[in-house]
Amino acid sequence: MKRRQFIGACALPFLATRTGNLLSAQRMVPAGAAIDLSTGVFRRRFTGFGGETPLWGYNGTTPGPLLRFRRGETVTIDVANSLPESTTVHWHGVRVPHAMDGVPHITQPPIKPGERFRYQFAVPDSGTYWYHPHHRSFEQVGRGLFGGLIVEEEKPIEVDRDVAWLIADLLLDPASGAHAPFGRISEHAAEGRLGNLITINGEVSGPDHFMDVRAGERIRMRLINAATARVFRLRFDRHVPTVIAYDGQAITPHVPDGSTILLGPGMRADLVIDCEGRPGERFAIDDAVSGKVLATLRYRDEDMLRSRLRGAPLQLARNELPVPNLKKPTTHTIEFRGGSYGPPAIGMVDGKAIPLHEMQNKHGLAWTVNSHALAEDAHEVAPLLTLKQGSTHVINMINGTGFVHPMHLHGHFFRVLDYNGVKPKHEEWRDTVFMHPWDEVTIAVVAGEPGDWMFHCHILEHAAAGMMGVIRVE
Ligand code: C2O
Ligand code: CU
Repeated sequence: MKRRQFIGACALPFLATRTGNLLSAQRMVPAGAAIDLSTGVFRRRFTGFGGETPLWGYNGTTPGPLLRFRRGETVTIDVANSLPESTTVHWHGVRVPHAMDGVPHITQPPIKPGERFRYQFAVPDSGTYWYHPHHRSFEQVGRGLFGGLIVEEEKPIEVDRDVAWLIADLLLDPASGAHAPFGRISEHAAEGRLGNLITINGEVSGPDHFMDVRAGERIRMRLINAATARVFRLRFDRHVPTVIAYDGQAITPHVPDGSTILLGPGMRADLVIDCEGRPGERFAIDDAVSGKVLATLRYRDEDMLRSRLRGAPLQLARNELPVPNLKKPTTHTIEFRGGSYGPPAIGMVDGKAIPLHEMQNKHGLAWTVNSHALAEDAHEVAPLLTLKQGSTHVINMINGTGFVHPMHLHGHFFRVLDYNGVKPKHEEWRDTVFMHPWDEVTIAVVAGEPGDWMFHCHILEHAAAGMMGVIRVE
């Protein structure tokens, strides 16, 4: 079978143009041919650090290759594992068959070092997605294992350029460049592992990270938060971002409150930015959470595009997602507890109720979902909820902790009905929804394909420390 070729995701900051030159370069191998993804360790030196950093990546890069598919096509991805430990690949947001979901023990055995696993599935929904391991993900993602996955619309909106940004971070020892130790309970029971080096497509972020633009250009930006724990709130200095999709799903094009984009781990946003500055000007793209400048929008000198696209429509076609029947839902409550401060959690571990300090000390667990703490590598799981395929469910999620949690459901898109009783301004479909401390968020979902689907916090240290559960569809 023929193998598809890639342009490494790092080689170019953007991989598709309206004219399609780069896009067609990515399509040298016909659709339907198998793709090889090989995990492995490689080293690179980041400026400002005293030594080389051992990174884990796919095909020798982090992020791994940016995969681009056409909606509806069936893709085959052969994963070879050259890591010193087992792994799996989860296709975050893609509604894959249960057996292809990449959850160790639940949907497949872990791929051991030296072994291979073939993933094959159709991509039913257009949009911006990503892939990452689901085995010891707090460490594997934290070492650089993740990549972008784009499913093209049949009729994409017209833009001059299509740019994908995978934003992540690394926590490195400044002197040696080595990773700080993984798995510390102090991180797992609090904000998670926050890095000291924020990367954009694997490159060091900061004022010297340039995104070159032409005056008059219209850019589609696909933002993917691949950090294990860091929350970003992006600002575009005098440029007004129009959000056109969250988690790959179309939303009425709108400028978000304060013109900032909130992105918890796992979440994606598609934006359109019209470059209305003048040749030679520079603008900072910064993160309001860390206060750091992540990149500089640098206008080329004396180079103007006539903004012929300004005013062109931005509404994306919606994917065909099952629509909740809100006249006859079954209602559920899911409550999250735990963390290093706040109301004490009592967790169930192996069917026994134990207090939080014992969960932490003995089991490395710090969070509960409806009083249960589930570790990421659990083999057998009692479901949080059992739902009948095709039925509608309204889930009221209560964040009983003083921490933020981006909650992710596998295999489904849900509609966000309200945040603390307030309906979102525009109909919102997501696979990951952000909860501020003490928030209550209500979602509606139609139970999809039968199987056990993970429902977990995408702060991967929280997931590792018990903030996981399973929603069973029968
Ligand atoms: Cu992106 Cu279960 O995760
Ligand atoms: Cu969390």
